[in-house]
Amino acid sequence: TYVVTDNCIGCKYTDCVEVCPVDCFYEGENMLVIHPDECIDCGVCEPECPADAIRPDTDADMDRWVTFNARYAELWPVITAARDPLPDADARDGLANKLDTLFS
Ligand code: SF4
Ligand code: F3S
Repeated sequence: TYVVTDNCIGCKYTDCVEVCPVDCFYEGENMLVIHPDECIDCGVCEPECPADAIRPDTDADMDRWVTFNARYAELWPVITAARDPLPDADARDGLANKLDTLFS
């Protein structure tokens, strides 16, 4: 599976949603996640993300994000069409450790 990681937080460009053939992105207030049981591992979303936030779960240190994506994909609603990025998307693109501020 692929997973959405830290740099989606506060950006949410949603280009990824447009290309996913199985509509397995789920939307939180500040970021999206991928449902690991629905992703067919096609990889087309990875290069589409302007924030470079999508990774294969085979990358190093992805355990935290696999758990995170699996958990919130069960709680958040599916998103099937792109929408405008968050207002501060360009300003927040690339900031470090966004997850630490997600729920504060
Ligand atoms: Fe969707 Fe393919 Fe990305 Fe999985 S890898 S989330 S199936 S576009
Ligand atoms: Fe997030 Fe990138 Fe999609 S910023 S919403 S993973 S295009």
